[in-house]
Amino acid sequence: MFGNSRAVTSNQEGVHSALEATVRRHLAHPWRAPVADHDRAAFARAADWVGTADHRLIVDSGCGTGRSSVALAKTYPEALVLGLDQSQHRLQRAARRFAPLPDNLLLLQTDCSGFWRLAAQAGWRPWRHYILYPNPWPKSAHLKRRWHGHPVFPVLIELGGTLEMRSNWSLYLQEARAALALGGWSSELTALHQDHEALTDFEEKYAASGQKLWRLTAKPGA
Ligand SMILES: C[S@@+](CC[C@H](N)C(=O)[O-])C[C@H]1O[C@@H](n2cnc3c(N)ncnc32)[C@H](O)[C@@H]1O
Repeated sequence: MFGNSRAVTSNQEGVHSALEATVRRHLAHPWRAPVADHDRAAFARAADWVGTADHRLIVDSGCGTGRSSVALAKTYPEALVLGLDQSQHRLQRAARRFAPLPDNLLLLQTDCSGFWRLAAQAGWRPWRHYILYPNPWPKSAHLKRRWHGHPVFPVLIELGGTLEMRSNWSLYLQEARAALALGGWSSELTALHQDHEALTDFEEKYAASGQKLWRLTAKPGA
């Protein structure tokens, strides 16, 4: 029920003890799993849409119902916004709810771990990259499912740009911060104000449930 969302609980009390070793291993050994054909097709469509014009690019990874992607496209009309999500169902809801979509927005069904690799290989360097309320995978055993514990993490670093992550689980962002620091990034972790305007549906739901919300902003370099 709306306004009744439970806070994240975990069997972890602090940053995962295997985080540093996991991130260092991934940084040292590029991930070589094959990229799925449907991610190749999604990237080809995105590359065609982005074209060769020198637009600033914003990527909203795991955009869900697209609310943040639409807001970003309206806030930055000079930029191109790509909203990526693996759920066609959620993206279809976005297309219906926000029709007509802004001209500078493309919503695409894809797995970010494949799409990011193709984007990095093609030399893409987004201006801004948003990962808003990623699935927390709060069990200790699930570290590798969190973006910073995933083998694709070095590619996220390679893509660069200003990265913004938000979560209702501060530990997720503390870990992301530590992982980014291992990749040479600097970052800031702050609490979102209670009365801020929600950027996403999950953010609205968590805020209505009285949960504390967190924002990590990060960029390459010290
Ligand atoms: C908790 S929801 C947050 C959605 C939205 N950002 C929001 O805040 O309302 C996480 C989203 O990430 C998407 N997702 C998870 N793993 C993904 C992946 N590997 N590639 C693309 N999307 C993914 C899910 O389908 C889901 O829509």
